[in-house]
Amino acid sequence: MVQEITISRTTRDEKYKELLPQIKGLVTGESDLIANLANIMAALKSSMGFLWIGIYLVKDKELVLGPFQGPVACTRIQKGNGVSGKVWQEKRTIIVADVDKFPGHIICSSESRSEIVLPIMKDNEVAMIMDLDSSSLNDFDAIDEKYLQEIVAIIEGLF
Ligand code: SME
Repeated sequence: MVQEITISRTTRDEKYKELLPQIKGLVTGESDLIANLANIMAALKSSMGFLWIGIYLVKDKELVLGPFQGPVACTRIQKGNGVSGKVWQEKRTIIVADVDKFPGHIICSSESRSEIVLPIMKDNEVAMIMDLDSSSLNDFDAIDEKYLQEIVAIIEGLF
């Protein structure tokens, strides 16, 4: 397989629009979940930038680090802890405009300034979370949430 992600647009909204069909194409015909997650994270990072983009998988009573792109990260997060653990507990997306103002935020990279975390569901339970970190303050809004939710829906269709 030789496949490249090409993003020619400039606004974030347009980039997501261009990226989504390419992500669908990337996972079509491949059944291995980890391989698909790894490629989706790479496609997102190479097209959108950001500091860190990755998946944590629910394994027993913890979130465990899965495929990601960016600096090395914390490997295990407990339910209710940090932004990710809270998303797991509350089964909803959380956008953090300033990580220093989020009580209990877990610092994996000192460069991270803002964050969005989305739950990935299976049978009404959180199976994974997708976490994006930015080195800019207040970098995520409803536009990111809308398109990232579409990527979450693609991932939910993989397992
Ligand atoms: N900041 C996250 C931890 C994960 S890293 O950012 C990769 C949190 O508070 O859950």
